Amino acid sequence: MVKNLSVFILIALLAGCGGKKKPELMHVADPEKGEAIFKSVGCTACHSVSGEKKYGPPLNSIFDKEVVVIRNGNTEKVRVDREYILRSMKDPEFEKVSGFQKSKMPSLNLSREEIEYLVDYIIFINKNNH
Ligand code: HEC
Repeated sequence: MVKNLSVFILIALLAGCGGKKKPELMHVADPEKGEAIFKSVGCTACHSVSGEKKYGPPLNSIFDKEVVVIRNGNTEKVRVDREYILRSMKDPEFEKVSGFQKSKMPSLNLSREEIEYLVDYIIFINKNNH
């Protein structure tokens, strides 16, 4: 009897999983939100958006350009797209901008949503700043 009950519960749980799917999260670009986050979480300590080199590279003319990075010890050229910018925040150690190998970009405990807004902001200033 106890065994039958647990089988029943298992089936009920499995059935529950196949139920309604969560709606996909839709990201609506909002560079202004990104700018506020950029300023409040401290990106400006290391990055300018004017072209000035600080501890890290300036971020106002990177989008859609080729950047030389070091990945696993290999030098590679990559075109900066949305994914690249996203990755630079999610996984700063994955690739390092050439010339900045010795400088460390910290992994800031950002949510996926905050990162998406930051990317919106960076792409926005790149498109309106050259
Ligand atoms: C403590 C300094 C520091 C802080 C704070 C920091 N970064 Fe960085 N960042 C760096 C350094 C150094 C590099 C270059 C080395 C590397 O590629 O990891 C870099 C690289 C990047 C790149 C790649 C740039 C390129 O030319 O390809 C992006 C994009 C970036 N950071 C965005 C951000 C954003 C957005 C924030 C805030 C959430 C931030 N960083 C906070 C130091 C920092």
